[in-house]
Amino acid sequence: MQHPTVDCVMSAGATHRPGATPELSVIIPTFNERGNVRAMTEALERALSGIRFEMVFVDDDSTDGTRDILAELADTRGNLRVIHRVGRRGLATAVTEGMLSTTSPYLAVIDADLQHDERVLPEMLALLKSNEADLVVGSRYTAGGGIGDWDAGRARVSTAATRLARLITCADLTDPMSGFFAISRPAFYSAVRNLSGQGYKILLDIAASTRQPLRIREVAYHFRARQTGESKLDALIVWEYLLLLADKLVGHIVPARFLSFMFIGGLGVFVHMGVLSIVLALGVSPFMWAQATATATAMIFNFFVNNTLTYRDRRLRGFFRVSRGLATFMLVCSVGAIANVGIADYMFSDFHYNWFSAGLAGIAVGVVWNYAATSVFTWRSR
Ligand code: GDD
Ligand code: MN
Repeated sequence: MQHPTVDCVMSAGATHRPGATPELSVIIPTFNERGNVRAMTEALERALSGIRFEMVFVDDDSTDGTRDILAELADTRGNLRVIHRVGRRGLATAVTEGMLSTTSPYLAVIDADLQHDERVLPEMLALLKSNEADLVVGSRYTAGGGIGDWDAGRARVSTAATRLARLITCADLTDPMSGFFAISRPAFYSAVRNLSGQGYKILLDIAASTRQPLRIREVAYHFRARQTGESKLDALIVWEYLLLLADKLVGHIVPARFLSFMFIGGLGVFVHMGVLSIVLALGVSPFMWAQATATATAMIFNFFVNNTLTYRDRRLRGFFRVSRGLATFMLVCSVGAIANVGIADYMFSDFHYNWFSAGLAGIAVGVVWNYAATSVFTWRSR
């Protein structure tokens, strides 16, 4: 592993030399943090006085005017930049792209909402510079750290997630969920091509993606309460976390998105059978119409759940987009159903496979077609 040679600390108060690479790039992901970014910038400037650093805010198209404030802040500073991403959401990819936009030897990530304690950043940087670690993690659980006023429920979820993290990385982290850490550039580069990019957990993603285990150190801090704005963590984060685990465990065989799509397809079978039994019980329509109603309902169910979970980062919104998405989804799945029946019948009748393997093969062809075609026609990435 190469080690950076840049090692120049500027005296406090010195102005930024144009063309000179900062020593530390601080990446700050934002989504609707209007009330926090000014205080955050000033807090970083206080904490890092004497260190040549830059701030890179990565904003996923905030709708609350966050970028207007950032533009004001950038106007009087040479070391503040904004990356504005449109049509995408996701903390992990925001952080990765922010890091990739820099050239300094050391990188750090911190939330924009002042919940992480920026005053430990110099200590983190010192551990990287003295080459004692490749990765320094702000931990709420190591001695001296704390989770502030989190409620018991959230604390329990966090502990369970921490245990599950051991499935995918041998790195000994007391707080693998942390979104607060510093890393050397070579260490980041050793992971970047294997990152899953699923969801929130960029630190865990990095720790599970390097070929060589990283030398990790932890620095304790107290998680502060959010003063303004609201948390973007919701119940769906749990789903994203499971997808990250799945991706790291079997992602080299099947993509996590496909697993999610198949799982939801499986739920669709239950919806289908439920609707079918209800319509039949009502006794108002012949079997064929009951089956058609059940199929349509299952497709609609699958479309909306996939739109919420599988394609969370590209979710279709607005009446027009959702209607067009639903129409293409149902069309693609109808073709998938025809292919499914055709293949199964061909194998059963012409090749004399037993009903079980013929049936399964039909389903497999249908699912792969549905997944591949809807990823192009329904949820194409922009
Ligand atoms: N660019 C971008 N895109 N930023 C985002 C997105 C997104 O989709 N979602 C959230 N953010 C930004 C927020 O604006 C904030 O600056 C930071 O990421 C953390 O989001 P919060 O919504 O405040 O998350 P949290 O406080 O519940 O959890 C955070 O702290 C935990 C403890 O350290 C996250 O960093 C977790 O990953 C971490 O475990
Ligand atoms: Mn927060």
